[in-house]
Amino acid sequence: MTQVCRRGLAALAFVCALGAQAPAQADDAAADMTGLRVVARVVAVGARRYKIENGVAWRYDAGDEGATRLPQVVVTHHVVVRDGIRYRLDTSASQVFGDETVPALATITPLPPDRACPAVPRRGLRGIWQARAGTALPDRTIGGLRLTRRTRLTWRCMAVKRLHQVGVVGGTRVRDLDQATPWQAEFYSTARYVKQDFVADAALVRAASPDAEYLNQRHAYEFHHHCGAVLIAPQWVVTAQHCIVNANGAIDPDYVRRWRRIRLGTQDLVHGGATYAIAKVVLHPGFDEQRYRNDIALLRIAADAQTVPIDDPKRIAPLRIAGVRADDPLPDDWVILVVYGWGTMTAHGDDVAPHLDDAGHVVHDSRDLRMVRLDPVPRAVCARNPHYRGIVTDGVVCAGYGPGGRDSCQGDSGGPLVGMDGDDPVALVGIVSGGYGCGLRNMPGIYTNVAHYLPWIRKVVGAGALLP
Ligand code: ARG
Repeated sequence: MTQVCRRGLAALAFVCALGAQAPAQADDAAADMTGLRVVARVVAVGARRYKIENGVAWRYDAGDEGATRLPQVVVTHHVVVRDGIRYRLDTSASQVFGDETVPALATITPLPPDRACPAVPRRGLRGIWQARAGTALPDRTIGGLRLTRRTRLTWRCMAVKRLHQVGVVGGTRVRDLDQATPWQAEFYSTARYVKQDFVADAALVRAASPDAEYLNQRHAYEFHHHCGAVLIAPQWVVTAQHCIVNANGAIDPDYVRRWRRIRLGTQDLVHGGATYAIAKVVLHPGFDEQRYRNDIALLRIAADAQTVPIDDPKRIAPLRIAGVRADDPLPDDWVILVVYGWGTMTAHGDDVAPHLDDAGHVVHDSRDLRMVRLDPVPRAVCARNPHYRGIVTDGVVCAGYGPGGRDSCQGDSGGPLVGMDGDDPVALVGIVSGGYGCGLRNMPGIYTNVAHYLPWIRKVVGAGALLP
């Protein structure tokens, strides 16, 4: 049996994907693992087929060969108590989707005790449960499921700095600062959650277990976020080229025109804004994903019947590109840079809302645009970072925060790094491209240096279309 066992999302979640030998439809096959009762779930409801992964089901639409692989509306889980420790358990049966076999999956996440830690009497600190790994338990194979690397845990209350809840790492909600971001765009999938989905999802939960919980993920589904983007001319947004990918991760402009749209005019992905079809995708010919080279693409948005015209500068308006004016600072010379995004707030953040928090409670994140202030990191310094060897060329800007804790992260890609004049956003300096981890100490993020690509951008969109 092939076995992949890796550490999961939270440091304490172990995800074991098992080989494909398990029966394709292990309906209600009950197994006993670690003394916990596990019910392998039916993940086909009617004609619809699902894959359940880390407690989140994904729907495959027939005929589209995974092209419309969508986040689905069900998170099913059990919370069980064994030896005084609460565990969250997510499992699925092995399933065949077209020619892809999704192996049986078991995730066991120890949860902290179901009571709050005592309040910490010092300001700015709060108590949270921290796990201490105890004795490792031997591997077990039960009912065809093999489970490894279990650990018996002990928990204790620890005082930690209060952190902001959920965009970027270490930032604030833009709307709390009442700042307009009329150029911020979102690049999203065109999934629609229809009544049929609702019915199928409710049935899926009922079929699974009486303990299973139904999370209404309609918002996460319909507003399935991919990347950020920036409006730079009346009909053009710029984004990172690594965002122009199909379901298999390959650069695919045709797929993107068909399955993605651009949203403008909102800081809240759940409410408001205007959406636009993508009429044209222009890729920079020199893109090299491995080395973060030329990570830039231009999308022309179609002003079709369903769209709101771009005429209210408070809601939708382009951002000037740095370097257009002769007196603009060079990329390394901006004093204040701010990055904006709807991405995750930690390197392994859960981008799907609603979800379960560490204590096993349902959390409905609002999807507010967030921002965080960064410092420019001189290219020479950035290039010395062992993780960025061979990456820091003229086409790149580095920005970060020395002590760590502020950064862009997964899902922010394609969005803007903006040069500020005090509190005012002035010009587009960078596009979120990559980075090693998120928010680590002395580990800046890598941004596409937009000014470097001005000649190419002018050629594509027309010099007169850019803001002077
Ligand atoms: N590649 C990521 C994305 O697709 C952006 C990562 C940015 N990382 C960082 N540490 N600044 O969203």
